[in-house]
Amino acid sequence: MLLPLLLLCTPASPARTAAPRRSFVLGSSCGALLAGAAGRRAAARERAASALRSSVAAAVADDPALAGTLLRLAFHDATRRDGARGGADGSIRFELADAENVRLGPPLARVLELRRPVAADLSVADAVAVAGAAAVEAAGGPAIRIGLGRRDAAKATPPTLRRKIERPGDESRDVVSATMPQPGLSTVGVRRYFRRPGLALSDQEIVALMGAHTLGRHNSLLNMTKGCLRNLTRECLEDAPVRLPFANPDPDRFSSTYFRRLLEWDARRLERGDANLIPTDVTLVLDPGFRRHVEAFARSEPLFRACFARAYAKLVR
Ligand code: HEM
Repeated sequence: MLLPLLLLCTPASPARTAAPRRSFVLGSSCGALLAGAAGRRAAARERAASALRSSVAAAVADDPALAGTLLRLAFHDATRRDGARGGADGSIRFELADAENVRLGPPLARVLELRRPVAADLSVADAVAVAGAAAVEAAGGPAIRIGLGRRDAAKATPPTLRRKIERPGDESRDVVSATMPQPGLSTVGVRRYFRRPGLALSDQEIVALMGAHTLGRHNSLLNMTKGCLRNLTRECLEDAPVRLPFANPDPDRFSSTYFRRLLEWDARRLERGDANLIPTDVTLVLDPGFRRHVEAFARSEPLFRACFARAYAKLVR
């Protein structure tokens, strides 16, 4: 049953699932020794990743809300890139102070703590990407195979693109200028953001990944103090008293509810409190190219799971 679904789930370019990030041409006995050492390191990495997956599963079982935060952490580490610069490189360690990374300190600290016993064999970048995959699985989502061997960056990836993506006549919401997506991007902006060099995601992959908002919550202004409502500081956002699920009444459980809620939103069938979508979520039903995938994922949970797994592996490659 899985095979036809995978065939329907077609990436624009293949996800990288093999482990090595670099390859060497080896022709001598010295080469054979080096190849043996590389093989041992790769095997140690695989063991470390598997141990980390088990630790993440146990941590999510204790605290189900951790799943969404770990997935968001992996997304923010991987997507902040500019062409070949950045990507899933652990640079999130140096980017926590940036506005879009509010609340990512605790999940990063958790990943670093769980990685500690295997830190010699697993880079921070690998650990963040593996933890995101393991969190999805622990929340009832698909098992996601990802390659290993990511190198850790020594500094932050710049928050702005070297060259904005814009065309004459653009509205401001169409223009992509930052290495992270802005929640107010239009359909044009969302597609440009995820299609840009380095990410190169297809419409199907974009929609599948946005389905991540089936997990987790976002801040709301409800019950905030008057002081915070007057001046919404970082502290106010870190300690927001009310966090709302995007679309899923059980935001710690991976499912395709998000897509059904989007279609209900479009049909004006949502009641107050049924969903708390952000502008980029609804771009997915406003654009015909995105919408056909929303409809397909709303109809078929297995298709969504298969496509999400492939798209995630490509995102963190
Ligand atoms: C246009 C693209 C996207 C935008 C603008 C966006 C924006 C946001 C915002 C504003 C929040 C709320 C943060 C908070 O208040 O704590 C959020 C949460 C979240 N995002 Fe996204 N996001 C996007 C795509 C993605 C993707 C592709 C993934 C993963 C593959 C993802 C995973 C998550 C998760 C799991 C949460 C919940 C985190 C939690 O429970 O703490 N997002 N996102």
